[in-house]
Amino acid sequence: MRAQGFVQGALISLLVCPPGCKGPGTPPPPLHQLPLQGAVVSGQPLATQVGLDILEAGGNAADAAVAAALALAVVLPQAGNLGGGGFALWVPHQGQGEVIDFREVTPQAFDQDLYLDDEGKLVRRRSLETPLAVGVPGSPAGLYSLFKRHGSGRFSFLQLCAPAISLAREGIPANSWLVRSLGAEGPKRRLQANPAARALFYPHQGGEALRVGDALIQEDLAQTLERYGNQGPQGFYQGQTAALLLDSLAEANEREGNLVGERGMTAADLTSYSSLVRSPLRGWFRGFEVLSVPPPSSGGFVLLQVLGILEGLPLEGQRTPQGEPTVRAMHWWIEAMRMAFADRAEHLGDPADYAVPLDALLGADWVTMRRVSIGPQADLDCRAWVPPGAPESSQTTHLSVLDDQGNAVSLTTTLNATFGSGIMVKGGGFLLNNELDDFSIVSGTPNMFGLLGGEANQLRPGRRPLSSMTPTVVREGGGRVVLVLGAPGGPRIISSVLQVVLRVLVHRQDLESAVRAPRLHQQWRPKETRVEKGFDPELVKLLEATHGQPFAKGSAAGLIQAIGVGANGQPSVVSDPRSGGTGGLQREKAPR
Ligand code: DON
Repeated sequence: MRAQGFVQGALISLLVCPPGCKGPGTPPPPLHQLPLQGAVVSGQPLATQVGLDILEAGGNAADAAVAAALALAVVLPQAGNLGGGGFALWVPHQGQGEVIDFREVTPQAFDQDLYLDDEGKLVRRRSLETPLAVGVPGSPAGLYSLFKRHGSGRFSFLQLCAPAISLAREGIPANSWLVRSLGAEGPKRRLQANPAARALFYPHQGGEALRVGDALIQEDLAQTLERYGNQGPQGFYQGQTAALLLDSLAEANEREGNLVGERGMTAADLTSYSSLVRSPLRGWFRGFEVLSVPPPSSGGFVLLQVLGILEGLPLEGQRTPQGEPTVRAMHWWIEAMRMAFADRAEHLGDPADYAVPLDALLGADWVTMRRVSIGPQADLDCRAWVPPGAPESSQTTHLSVLDDQGNAVSLTTTLNATFGSGIMVKGGGFLLNNELDDFSIVSGTPNMFGLLGGEANQLRPGRRPLSSMTPTVVREGGGRVVLVLGAPGGPRIISSVLQVVLRVLVHRQDLESAVRAPRLHQQWRPKETRVEKGFDPELVKLLEATHGQPFAKGSAAGLIQAIGVGANGQPSVVSDPRSGGTGGLQREKAPR
């Protein structure tokens, strides 16, 4: 076992290094098999097709990811977006890769007081469906950065926007997934309160929603995409699109009885937005290299801490004859998640503004301490890491792309809730996020996902809210990509990615079985572990009886979009059967 020194902003490397690995900064051996074909998987078939078309026209993984993400902004308005943000993990065929952080930012005039009533109590809906919910969008800056930094150079930016523009202008048939989302209570209330969104999504008499097969034509969005395609981020953060966005927020503010006063989002908030380039977090698990995203997402951290804890446990001896994890293995999974989410709540936030002690939290000492403290009984009161010497203190969407040159992109983007804040930019045709609910606005008061937090993730001007997005790539020691995956689902993103990684790497399940298997989710608070419908009730009973694990029913799964690559270089795609997405393989080429 080898512990590395950890430096924020540098590649974080955890624990065991595979044979032949010389540590961070060492390029992998150049010769390993390229994938036989490229592959794309996303949450909507039309967006997957856009990505495949770009690969087949000679684009690389970055080109295809950008075009597919823009298509999602049109064909999956629940989550695909221009008005939200996310993280993209670029892992090239050779070398270390990087993360593009295009998380939304808190406008300069927003602060905690705006979210509280006269008695100082949090008013929940302000961070969910009013202008106070909306962070400065990051997607237009982030997708452009992915194109500029890693695109093949074979396409202009406008060419990558073109498929999305056509889909918006010519229209797409509303599918049952979209229609179901429009009928759900929360999204319906938010969207119907906004005249532009109501006109687009509820066009029938009496404000009835689009029906399956109705054409969804988005001409305003087509024009927004054209301005962006022609001018790059300036065509969004300045000029007509910016003016329309600010006007729409001002109108929404009026409808709320002037909630924000003079403290709304400004033109300066928009022009000063920039995406950031960060180093991936990296850990080793069973000789595989796991790359994921650093703060301001907690996804990579929780994934790597849990894998670090499990790395030293004999999971291979805990397999049922069917290859499933035993009761004891599940107990270990749950306890490791409980521990990592406790650290998340206390210590994770925007590193620009809060010193996240990642080196300590992922260091061998703490990870080992966590591992040895797993006992036979659930530790429902487990506490977060305490700095030495300190007093004890108290709808998103993911796409994965692999090209036949071995480059991978794992990209998660979100509006936060389904259709975000429901505030649609009139004349711009796009929805704005409600990402500011990801902050812990009042300590001890859970956010929409039941997540708690403290000072580390307190809402402050200019801060990025803590995320759970976990776009991840797993490589073999030699550098060959074996998995590209991620999911939507709030904190369930992390547990879903984790469980698929464990099932594939430890239980040797094929990717499809690993994704299909019923999931559990543990996030420290609430104490109960949630299990999906279909999770073996006998297993639940045994975990309760043998290990004192409490359970609750509920939604426990994020929607995985994964690419796996077999030892012979053959990729396979799995779009979570719980979602309406698809994957596809690039057409085979003549043998190389
Ligand atoms: O960044 C986050 O963690 C959340 N805003 C993600 C929201 C999400 O995944 C909703 N999807 N089901």
